[in-house]
Amino acid sequence: MSELVRVCAESRLPSAGQVAEFVVDGRALCVANVNGSIAVLDGTCPHEGGPLGEGMIEDGCVVCPWHSFSFDLRSGICPQDDGMKAETLEAVVSDGELRVRL
Ligand code: FES
Repeated sequence: MSELVRVCAESRLPSAGQVAEFVVDGRALCVANVNGSIAVLDGTCPHEGGPLGEGMIEDGCVVCPWHSFSFDLRSGICPQDDGMKAETLEAVVSDGELRVRL
């Protein structure tokens, strides 16, 4: 299993209800703060490659800014199309930083 990789300092995490995009090892990640809890999805939308890290949070999902499909921030499941799923990544916030398993 791959190691945890540093994404950013805890101080740079999005505030509650916000998402942000970070690029780690050339891979875009969608980092979301859901009521104080951090969730990380692959930042490339499985629909047509939109930037999930530039989306908005609604009802525990991130809404893609390109065509408004949404993806559950815990499961990656798309409520509008069960054939689409965003990859979820294990995320750990400790020692003042966010790390993920790529
Ligand atoms: S690219 Fe994300 S909804 Fe189409």
